[in-house]
Amino acid sequence: MGPILLLGAPGVGKGTQAKALMAAWGIPQISTGDILREVKNHTTVPSALAERLLSAGKLPVEDMQKMQQGKLVSDDLVNEMVAARLASPDTRHGYVLDGYPRTLAQANWLDERLSATPGSLDVVAISIQVEYTKLLRRITGRRSCPTCGRIYNVYLHPPKHDMLCDDDRTPLEQRADDVESVFEQRIKTYEAQTAPVVEHYRGQGRFAEVDGELPVDEVTLSIKSAVARLRK
Ligand code: AP5
Repeated sequence: MGPILLLGAPGVGKGTQAKALMAAWGIPQISTGDILREVKNHTTVPSALAERLLSAGKLPVEDMQKMQQGKLVSDDLVNEMVAARLASPDTRHGYVLDGYPRTLAQANWLDERLSATPGSLDVVAISIQVEYTKLLRRITGRRSCPTCGRIYNVYLHPPKHDMLCDDDRTPLEQRADDVESVFEQRIKTYEAQTAPVVEHYRGQGRFAEVDGELPVDEVTLSIKSAVARLRK
């Protein structure tokens, strides 16, 4: 399957779709945001990578503050996280990168790494599009399960029972940066630093845009058919 990149503004559904693709294709989701939150909050049992970053004191206070403010953490830190994650054998047949790369420097780092890796397939980049006005509701309504990672939305698709995960009954949580004031900064950061990354991959050719306003299952189908077409 090779590397699949999911690109798009905060709330377009990158995490939701990465989980669906992971289930469909049996390849891992690599979410730099999830790894950073694991290290920052360490409320759940951290993964081996989060454990290493934690014990090495790898998340400086200024990076934690940047996450809280809706700004990006340093390229060096996330590139190191991705390098460590890509060294795991479960990425050999492919992986879905969710929320990375987010700057041109990260995209160039990834391009160089992949071109230096024998046998690695070219990246397929999928840009998920959702109108700006719909994103605020998605972000402020989002809740997720700290046990299984399932993502809900209190307005659009709430859990069956009062704020408990349908699968394991764990109380759902809201992310600290999912408030309106931080959302506005996240959008500004996206437009200034990540929109150029979308153009970078558009220029490379193995690129598709999908309508992220459709129901979740239909978005998944659009991504799967775009990947099949671009991998031919
Ligand atoms: P990160 O965690 O990556 O956040 P983000 O990019 O802002 O994206 P989100 O996770 O908010 O949204 P999503 O697109 O995954 O949407 P979701 O599927 O959850 O990053 C957080 C922070 O970490 C950054 O601000 C930065 O500080 C730092 N960081 C991370 N990566 C970095 C990097 N590479 N470099 C530097 N810093 C980095 O869906 C949202 C909601 O919509 C949910 O409620 C969901 O249920 C709902 N929904 C999804 N799809 C649909 C649909 N089709 N219809 C209706 N509702 C839907």
